[in-house]
Amino acid sequence: MTPPITSIGLLDPDQVKSVLGAAVLAPSTRNTQPWRFRCTTAGIELHADPDRALPVADADQRELLLSCGAALFNLRTAIHALGAHPATTLLPRRDNPTLLAVVRPFAARKPDRRLVRLADAIPRRHTNRAPFEVAVIPDTVVAELRHAAEAEQAWLPRLDANQLNRLRDLVHKSHHAQVTDPAFLAEWRQWTARPRDSRDGIPDGMPSDDSDWISGDFGSPRRGLADDSDPLVVVVGSFEDKQADRIRAGQAMQRVLLTATAAGFDASFVSQPVEVPAVRAELRTLLGGGLWPQVVLRLGHGTPASWTPRRSLDDVLLEPDRLSA
Ligand SMILES: Cc1cc2nc3c(=O)[nH]c(=O)nc-3n(C[C@H](O)[C@H](O)[C@H](O)COP(=O)(O)O)c2cc1C
Repeated sequence: MTPPITSIGLLDPDQVKSVLGAAVLAPSTRNTQPWRFRCTTAGIELHADPDRALPVADADQRELLLSCGAALFNLRTAIHALGAHPATTLLPRRDNPTLLAVVRPFAARKPDRRLVRLADAIPRRHTNRAPFEVAVIPDTVVAELRHAAEAEQAWLPRLDANQLNRLRDLVHKSHHAQVTDPAFLAEWRQWTARPRDSRDGIPDGMPSDDSDWISGDFGSPRRGLADDSDPLVVVVGSFEDKQADRIRAGQAMQRVLLTATAAGFDASFVSQPVEVPAVRAELRTLLGGGLWPQVVLRLGHGTPASWTPRRSLDDVLLEPDRLSA
């Protein structure tokens, strides 16, 4: 049974439901949806769900925090589009590390049309793992993407041709490390070969990885991609790598993804090099040593992607008394 949803601040119960519905459309590693929400008179709480962590691929729960950060960005943006200011506090309680944020929609605000455009893009964004057509992404869009990351206190270095070649090596190396690890493979299968009616993970039969990238075909002469027409590859990076930095990076990632969707571009994730710690350290060096790489994204145009299921609000809402305030 869904706990009863009441008004919170300026939002009536239907609006609370609709902003939570937007939050759960966020991308998450292996579609684990590692979040829970709790509605209180003080605001909407976002909690991490450690039972949905990936102990092998994501031992320090970095990707779990990125996924929750993406849900937080959707929540904030949907609240903003309804005309309320989403006053947000990250990690409000030291004694409750799974309480990641509280959002308080109490003050009215005239919606900023750029954020309303991102809110409109929330249901249209899907991870697209298809090969991307050769298409140059205009500099204006690249600038918008960079601004999206910076607005959320992260950075978005774009990789040049040399760095792309090195990154391809790192993808191979990390992919090899993962697929030769039986524990990794068992965890991968657990989340990516779900029954077709499953509401989480990636249902059996759906593509669950970026195989062109892994096979190394990306950008190779065989596919006829010239250096100046490669799909855009960007890295969301942070200057620190603590819990709050990772939540912020997840918000930045989602702002970048929605900005791409709104501009008509698709995106997919290239996570192997950030999931293997030793390779992540090499990627950090490749980026100049000043940034912590959090997520690698490939952007371009692909054939339309299918929709991945989500759990219902019943499954993600905490009773007001199930956790201490
Ligand atoms: C931190 C993070 C890492 C991800 N890594 C991968 C990946 O390595 N390969 C992949 O195909 N998809 C990856 N994804 C995409 C998820 O599988 C996808 O978000 C999820 O299945 C939900 O689908 P949707 O994005 O279409 O809503 C990642 C997503 C997040 C947030």
